[in-house]
Amino acid sequence: MSKLRFALIGAGMMGVEHLTNLALFDEAELVALVDPVPSSLRYAVRALGERAAGVAQFANVPDLLAAGLKLDGVIISSPNHTHHDVLTPLFGADLHILCEKPLCSDLEDAKRVAERAASHRGVFWVGMEYRFMPPAAEFIRQVHEGRVGRLVMLAMREHRFPFLPKVGDWNRFSRNTGGTMVEKCCHFFDLMRLIVGAEPVRIHCSGGMDVNHLDERYGGERPDIIDNSYTIVDFDNGVRALLDLCMFADGAEQQEEIAATGDKAKLEVFVPSGELVYSPRVGFRQPKRVERSTVGVDETVLAAGSHHGATYFQQRAFIDAIQKGAPVQVTARDGLRAVAMGTAAEISAREKRAVEFAELNVG
Ligand SMILES: NC(=O)c1ccc[n+]([C@@H]2O[C@H](COP(=O)([O-])OP(=O)(O)OC[C@H]3O[C@@H](n4cnc5c(N)ncnc54)[C@H](O)[C@@H]3O)[C@@H](O)[C@H]2O)c1
Repeated sequence: MSKLRFALIGAGMMGVEHLTNLALFDEAELVALVDPVPSSLRYAVRALGERAAGVAQFANVPDLLAAGLKLDGVIISSPNHTHHDVLTPLFGADLHILCEKPLCSDLEDAKRVAERAASHRGVFWVGMEYRFMPPAAEFIRQVHEGRVGRLVMLAMREHRFPFLPKVGDWNRFSRNTGGTMVEKCCHFFDLMRLIVGAEPVRIHCSGGMDVNHLDERYGGERPDIIDNSYTIVDFDNGVRALLDLCMFADGAEQQEEIAATGDKAKLEVFVPSGELVYSPRVGFRQPKRVERSTVGVDETVLAAGSHHGATYFQQRAFIDAIQKGAPVQVTARDGLRAVAMGTAAEISAREKRAVEFAELNVG
């Protein structure tokens, strides 16, 4: 089988993580880089090393398409607010598309993209990759297998470092990112829908920017992005979920923690330790029967990115969808719904009220 030929659109931090991972697949090769910023192209070329030979460079998608390269697919890792316009010409080109999260920064753009993607002839995949972190994937498998009994409560925590500097500082403003609850938390809202297996009814978020970016100014303007929040989501099957986000907890031992509690047991997973902790109910003052296990990740895969192997396993599944017709595990509809949940959380935090998901008209 001939190698799948990919172009990378957006050669910044996440783009380089994509090309480093793509290099681990014999089935795929990078043939083009697209980025309007010369220093980003140079950054990607440095990361490619000898593999940069023969990789074409373009400043934008129309130029890529006009060049008539033989191409099978694209990976889009340009800033959130560019996804809609980057995607528009690509939909006409019948390529396989992996578009980074969030699908779009703006909900109406996301609705338009999801509608167009529904009739797209190639694979269309949204980069909601936390599903693919091996410990998270194992946790999801066990919950779906019924290990906690009937799921009742799902709690997630991300306690991490502040947003890093980005090319052109695009991530400092909600108008570019969609706001932190879209930009960052779409991952967790996607995980909630996947684990709970239901749709959100109501979202209540309390959040603000209280520690990070307070003294930063860009063209005289102060950033406007949430750096801490609590979000409660009610699902239509009765499950309630919680997201606890803190972006000034870089000293925390675990970056992500998820706990699923059902009528029979509690199951927790921790990243980066990869530990799963299973605690069945034992009754008042009975001896605990806690079981611990650890899901490891191959060293090469871990070293190819900063998302605990997620980028590699997501690319594996994307390539399998293209070559073997395996299921598209994160559809445009999933991407749209995660953006809508994030948008609801942003509205909730701003207007200090619970937001009914129906208000967002995502169908
Ligand atoms: N899956 C994840 O966990 C994860 C992690 C980080 C970032 N991301 C996503 O990846 C995307 C990129 O984020 P990043 O951290 O790499 O940002 P970045 O600023 O490091 O890189 C973005 C790159 O896109 C380029 N760019 C800007 N406009 C463009 C356009 N119209 N066409 C092509 N390239 C363009 C910029 O010049 C820059 O080189 C964002 O959507 C972000 O949300 C996902």
